[in-house]
Amino acid sequence: MDAKTLLLKRNSHGKLEGPAPTAEQLDTLYRAALRAPDHKGLAPWRFVEISGEGRKRLGDLSARAEKLRKPEIKEDKLESIKLKAERAPMIIAVIARIKDNKKVPRVEQVASAACAAHAMLYAAEVEGLGAMWRTGDFAHSPVVREGFGLTPVDELVGFIYLGHKVGHEKKLPNLQPKDFVERWT
Ligand SMILES: Cc1cc2nc3c(=O)[nH]c(=O)nc-3n(C[C@H](O)[C@H](O)[C@H](O)COP(=O)(O)O)c2cc1C
Repeated sequence: MDAKTLLLKRNSHGKLEGPAPTAEQLDTLYRAALRAPDHKGLAPWRFVEISGEGRKRLGDLSARAEKLRKPEIKEDKLESIKLKAERAPMIIAVIARIKDNKKVPRVEQVASAACAAHAMLYAAEVEGLGAMWRTGDFAHSPVVREGFGLTPVDELVGFIYLGHKVGHEKKLPNLQPKDFVERWT
């Protein structure tokens, strides 16, 4: 796939099956992520690779987060929330690990981590994998923050669900630059 096609046609894919990405594919994803723009070279990134039984740990965290949000929630609903972590053979949590720096505010470091996540989506496409960035209701929950060992300033920018595509690609939205671009000339 040429670079322009990649940039214009990247498509998230939510229905994913195994096998999980190989070590070589993951190496490409991480190297792409580490090329994210990074003010002052702070490398404010952390990745948690979740697969196999590790997905149960994420499922438990998300169910506990939902229970905190909605104490009256029914047990069967919690079970279905737990299973959401098993929608893909692998999930990578992308975390902005915020560094203390006078010149680079937190928002720039979160932006850099978001760029890293985006780069992983492109790299997944290059590797022929399906990928989808999700946060769900729980990525910002205190339960999940604690489960991932975030400091009070860190941010969990998202979970990248990865695997092999099942079913058709969705239609891409027909957005036009003219509707978004203003010009100062
Ligand atoms: C920070 C962030 C969080 C997201 N969280 C979710 C989510 O929890 N669930 C979901 O269905 N889509 C979520 N999305 C959107 C999808 O990743 C995807 O962008 C969307 O389905 C449109 O598909 P496309 O990326 O191919 O345009 C999120 C996107 C971003 C940037």
